[in-house]
Amino acid sequence: MMGTGDFVKDKVVLVTGAGGGIGRDFALALAGEGARVVVNDLGASVSGEGQDLSRAQSVVDEIETAGGIAVANGDSVADWDAAHRMVNQAVDTFGRIDCVINNAGILRDRFFHNMDLDEWHAVIDVHLNGAFYVSRAAAPHFKAQQSGVYIHMVSTSGLIGNLGQANYSAAKLGVAALSKSIAMDMARFKVRSNCISPFAWSRMIGAIPTETPEQQERVERLQKMETSKIAPLAVFLASDAATEVTGQIFAVRANEIFLMSQMRPLRGMHTAEGWTPQSVAERVVPALRASFYKLDRSQDVFDWDPV
Ligand code: NAI
Repeated sequence: MMGTGDFVKDKVVLVTGAGGGIGRDFALALAGEGARVVVNDLGASVSGEGQDLSRAQSVVDEIETAGGIAVANGDSVADWDAAHRMVNQAVDTFGRIDCVINNAGILRDRFFHNMDLDEWHAVIDVHLNGAFYVSRAAAPHFKAQQSGVYIHMVSTSGLIGNLGQANYSAAKLGVAALSKSIAMDMARFKVRSNCISPFAWSRMIGAIPTETPEQQERVERLQKMETSKIAPLAVFLASDAATEVTGQIFAVRANEIFLMSQMRPLRGMHTAEGWTPQSVAERVVPALRASFYKLDRSQDVFDWDPV
C-alpha cells in the first residue's frame, strides 16, 4: 500500500475523515510519498452519529507500521473551534501545514418533501460548513508562508444531480463554489484550491439497496471502483508538480480521470425593446428549448462501465 516515493516529501497534510474509505487511502498514499499526515476522523456512523478516535488511530498505526509519519485527531470538522484545533495540531506536531484535504462526509438521504431540519443541517454542517471551517483555519498559515493547497471532495450528486439528496447535493455544489472562491481570493499568496468528485466503493455507498437485479448490477459495478484509485490525483494536487493547477474540478472513477465543466452561458437571446412574459414564451423558450437540460442523475451521464 505504501509507496517508496518522495512526491510530497516533508509536506504536512491534514486529511479530514481519513479513518476509512477514500480518506484513509489518501493518508496512506501521502505518507507513502513522504508526507507527514494528520489523520482526522470523528469516527461517526455514516449518518454522522457517535465518536470513536480508534478509527483515526488505526490508520496512524498502519502508516507507522509501514515506516511513515502520522498523528491522529478525533475532532469534528463541523465545529469551528475543533477545526482550528486540528490545524493547530498539524503546526504544533510538524511545524507547519501545507495541504488541507476536506474529505469528511456523512449522508442523510431523504426525498426533499420529507427532509427535516436536522437532516438538512447535519449534512450542510459537515460538508459545506466543515470545509469552510477547516479551510479558514489553515488560511492564515497559507497566507504567511505564501503557499498552500486545498483539495475538496465534491460529488456528481451536486455537479449533475441525484434523487433524495437535496441536502448533500446543495452542500457539495456549495463546496465547489467555495473552492473556486478560495482559488481566486488566495491566488495572490500562491495558494491553490481544487475539487475531486470521486466514485468509489466505500461504506458511504454500501447502503444502496440490492433488492432488484438492476440494483444488484449497479452495486457490482460500483464495487469495482476502489477507494485507493482516487489517491494518485490527490497526491499530485498536493505536490509542487501541480503549481499550475487551481480552480478545477476533477472526477475520478477507477482508472478514469475527468476534468468537469463549469457553469458558462450556453445560448442567449436578446431584444432591443425588452421582454414581456408573453414574448419570453413565444420567442425565448422555442429558441432555448433544444438546449434545456434533462433531469439527469449522475448515473445517466456516467452511464458506461468504469475502466
Ligand atoms: P466514508 O464514510 O468511508 O468516509 C467518511 C469519513 O468521514 C468517515 O470515516 C467518517 O467517520 C468521517 N466523518 C464524518 N463526519 C465527520 C466529522 N464531522 N468530522 C470528521 N470526520 C467525519 O465515505 P467516503 O466514500 O470515503 O467519502 C469521502 C468523501 O468523498 C466524502 O466527502 C464523500 O461525500 C465524498 N464522495 C464519495 C463518493 C463515493 O463514491 N464514495 C462519491 C462522491 C463523493
